Amino acid sequence: MNEAVSRRSAMRLIGAAGVVGGALGAGACAPTVPPGAGLRSTAPAAPADAEPGGANRIDALLERLTLDEKTALLHGARDPASLGQAGYLPGVPRLGIPALRLADGSAGVRVTETATALPAPVLLASAFDPALAREYGRVVGREGRALGQDVVLSPMANLIRTPYAGRNFEAFAEDPRLTADLVGEMVRGIQEEGLIATVKHFALNNQEHGRDTVDVIAAEQTLHETELRGFEAAVAAGAGAVMGAYNRVNGVHACENKPLLDELLRGSWGFDGWVMSDWDAAHSTVAAIGAGLDMEMPGGTHFGRPLREAVRGGTVPEAAVDLAVHRILTTMDRFGLLAARPAARPPRNAAAGARVARKVAAAGAVLLRNEHGTLPLSGAAARSIAVIGPTGQVPFVGGGGSAHVVPDGAPAPLSAIRQRAGNGSTVRYALGEDLYGRPLPATLLTPAADLDHRVVAPGRGWRHEGEFRLAADDEWTLLVHYTGQRPGVRLDGEELFPVRQGITEHYAGGLLGSAPDGMAVRRRTLALKAGTHRLAVTAAGGDKGQRFRLRHITGAIRAADLAEAVKTAKSARSVVLFAYEDATEGRDRTSLALPGGQERLIEAVAAANPRTTVVLNTSSGTTMPWLSRTGAVLQMYYPGQEGAGATADLLFGDVDPGGRLTQTFPADERATPVGGDPRRYPGVGGRQEYSEGIHVGHRWYDAQHVTPLFPFGHGLSYTTWHYEGLAVRPGGARGQRGSLRVEFTVRNTGRRKGTEVAQVYVGPSPELQLDQPVRALAGYRRLTLAPGQAQRVTVDVDARALSSWDPERHAWVLGTGRREVFAGRSSRDLPLRSKVVVASR
Ligand code: BGC
Repeated sequence: MNEAVSRRSAMRLIGAAGVVGGALGAGACAPTVPPGAGLRSTAPAAPADAEPGGANRIDALLERLTLDEKTALLHGARDPASLGQAGYLPGVPRLGIPALRLADGSAGVRVTETATALPAPVLLASAFDPALAREYGRVVGREGRALGQDVVLSPMANLIRTPYAGRNFEAFAEDPRLTADLVGEMVRGIQEEGLIATVKHFALNNQEHGRDTVDVIAAEQTLHETELRGFEAAVAAGAGAVMGAYNRVNGVHACENKPLLDELLRGSWGFDGWVMSDWDAAHSTVAAIGAGLDMEMPGGTHFGRPLREAVRGGTVPEAAVDLAVHRILTTMDRFGLLAARPAARPPRNAAAGARVARKVAAAGAVLLRNEHGTLPLSGAAARSIAVIGPTGQVPFVGGGGSAHVVPDGAPAPLSAIRQRAGNGSTVRYALGEDLYGRPLPATLLTPAADLDHRVVAPGRGWRHEGEFRLAADDEWTLLVHYTGQRPGVRLDGEELFPVRQGITEHYAGGLLGSAPDGMAVRRRTLALKAGTHRLAVTAAGGDKGQRFRLRHITGAIRAADLAEAVKTAKSARSVVLFAYEDATEGRDRTSLALPGGQERLIEAVAAANPRTTVVLNTSSGTTMPWLSRTGAVLQMYYPGQEGAGATADLLFGDVDPGGRLTQTFPADERATPVGGDPRRYPGVGGRQEYSEGIHVGHRWYDAQHVTPLFPFGHGLSYTTWHYEGLAVRPGGARGQRGSLRVEFTVRNTGRRKGTEVAQVYVGPSPELQLDQPVRALAGYRRLTLAPGQAQRVTVDVDARALSSWDPERHAWVLGTGRREVFAGRSSRDLPLRSKVVVASR
């Protein structure tokens, strides 16, 4: 299993015949990829008092830096003028080295100020459009610069390996090829605007469960053919920085993993930027700097005083410190940050950001199901609509954790639907399921008390103790909404919301963790017996004071909300039901089902009105026992601040759904690549095995003959498509041997303009004695055609797509011989197939 570690010295590549030379180069073959690395030339001027001339200038700076100054460049610190970003480096003002600010930015720039809350990367990826990823990157790049940042902690190149992983919405795809294409273009987009991109989390941070400690075991071939592809593409695109992951890789912490950081990243791939740790992911001083970690974030636990002492004590050569500083300064210089007169920061262009946000949300939307012409809404169906669900009224913008962005503004789907439906239409709304609870009637409590508007001044405690009576047994949900410190709530002597610390504090098992006004929400559901119950609420005020409200939902409230939703559904011609699942960094999902009472709500509403469309604002694959009752299902993931408008565009058919799944949706929880084997997920004894090998995502479903709920690449359009005339010949874009040119015709056979994602897959080589996918994605093309229009599509399949990683030779090896080539609409709908001989180069 441990080849990646044991054979590491031989990983620098061999240029033998039949071997695809060099690990560099993403080799993107999608025809939409714009050429060139695209780093805008930011020809830097010399810092005021440094010597002129590139590398010499950095050397000269290094000579003038003291050891204290050098190590201060190697670890984060507190920002005295923080803009709310994740990381800060003070710089060395006396030598003209400016401070460096580092903000999160998976789905927009995360600072205190508002920014464009972009759709989650998984929705971007669903458009299968590298050019769109570049546009998205440019929004992040420009906004990052405008909001005072120098580095963005994005993109996340980790693959979607399990549908349970809490950060799947921040990732792009389960497919390595697609991820690589998109990550590369996003890096280019970000850096074209002068912001330094940080590809993260290197590597194998594919789950949140035990992420700080888990030891991920993956074989060399698996690593190269799956998870590493996105990182390699980011390096090829010129990413300025790499973030090391929390977890261990093959026994060694990722942030002190020499085979990964030194031998592969720098040695094989030629990375010349700097490596920073994930936040608190550095574990040592000597081992980490020796392995190639350049910067510890967010503080200096290991690279502050301990590093200075290690240098003075001789356990770390000063040359190692110099090398790390050199890498950081060289990258800063490359982006013009050391210039005497650095380029002025651009102003924000919020309108342009919003336009891209809407475009991406609409482009990535995946229509999973559409029966009996439920969508698009038109004619009578568009004039009488019931909107149901809490997230129909309060928009679901983005996921939690470091991907959270404060949006400029986010209209609600209900308003967007009302606006689009127009004056002659009736749009009614029903909540369906209460997420935030109703106030506890003051008269229910003895003594009477208002627990809904409590404001407690700093340091001034507040307490209520009393009773309430229930006439019959009931299921209650008690909710506390609060700012500042959470108040204590004891029911019959038991604390309902025990304090937990950390990033997952507000994780509520997929239910929304905050109220529309931003207050944190915690819930507890209990079976209460008839009789008297004792309630005690204690608020300490804390340093900053606190606000809170205590709310409740009874069985009767639940039943009334459901009945109201059913009544509203019956009264309308069409129903649009918004369902959600709130995922966050730091926690994996515990179930693939929709949380709370949403399954029951969908069943009841769809039974009342079969013209029900379910709009899913979920993070990743969801199980859908209710599917067959619905008319349509539209997967919008986390759609960003313009999600409402984009959703309306799709529902009413102003935009054709051109998104396709970048991950397989399993039919049930047991039938996933990791299902049923705890060693694969979540790991046993702190160790996790990637024993599915190269068969990640759709490759596993094909290899195991498992039928998914929806396959990779699936997505319906409002029009119909026909594929014909497949021709495959050796020789790709430039006619090179070892590559293929695949041509076929795609015809819009329907009556509407539509968008299609034509996909090309290749079968295994008979001449390689290596494990190979049954079908690997080799290329794709997004195209929009008028009704009746046909287009000849060319997809060039490059050598990388036809190669496997040979762990004996530590190199890519071309899969020669007769191979099958497939083209069609998804990994499971491939009407065209042909055979071709791949000749060695
Ligand atoms: C996350 C990173 C993030 C960093 C800074 C970490 O917990 O894993 O993705 O960039 O925090 O916010």
